[in-house]
Amino acid sequence: MARSNEMNNPGNTNSTGQAMIRMTVGIAALIVLTALLFFVAPDRFYPWAKAIHILAVISWMAGMLYLPRLFVYHVDAEKGSVQSETFKVMERRLLRGIINPAMIVTWMFGLWLAWKGFAFQGGWLHAKIAAVLLMSAVHGYLAGAVRKFARDSNEKSAKHWRMVNEIPTLLMIAIVILVVVKPF
Ligand code: HEM
Repeated sequence: MARSNEMNNPGNTNSTGQAMIRMTVGIAALIVLTALLFFVAPDRFYPWAKAIHILAVISWMAGMLYLPRLFVYHVDAEKGSVQSETFKVMERRLLRGIINPAMIVTWMFGLWLAWKGFAFQGGWLHAKIAAVLLMSAVHGYLAGAVRKFARDSNEKSAKHWRMVNEIPTLLMIAIVILVVVKPF
């Protein structure tokens, strides 16, 4: 029922509230789990934090690579059509259910690792943080586009979204090389 309501009215504030509640509960559960891990095995916490960081990174990147792809198809769907309304629901769910919480968790654990493991020192780390800031700016741009598509006011072409799709890919390659190879 909630799902068909959402399909009929993608701007529905009820489902927005539910998504916010789910995200808050999910992040709160993660914080409790993390605190437990921290107290049960403090000397083994660093690799656990890195594992959670990597899982969050995978989810964030999956969404960041898929969302502009959805926009490419959405541009070709007629405004007001069932297809267009379905894209709106998919985009909003991807943003609120996966991309936003994954970005928050990536930042939380990334900053902790940078502080605990490296005291925020190292050229590679500074360059990585700069690249992640750029990634977060792209995230903000895509979130704005989800709102525009929801109002049927996107004016960008499919070619534009195809090109935007390449930015997170390039940033991701740079970030992974910086953190794994640590070239400087
Ligand atoms: C502000 C955000 C971030 C900060 C401060 C941060 C910082 C860190 C730190 C300090 C480590 C531990 C490195 C080590 O133990 O050698 C790490 C691991 C890692 N990070 Fe991030 N990170 C952030 C976001 C990201 C993003 C966006 C990606 C990918 C797109 C990413 C990919 C990875 C990977 C793959 C590892 C594992 C590297 C290894 O174990 O060799 N991180 N991160």
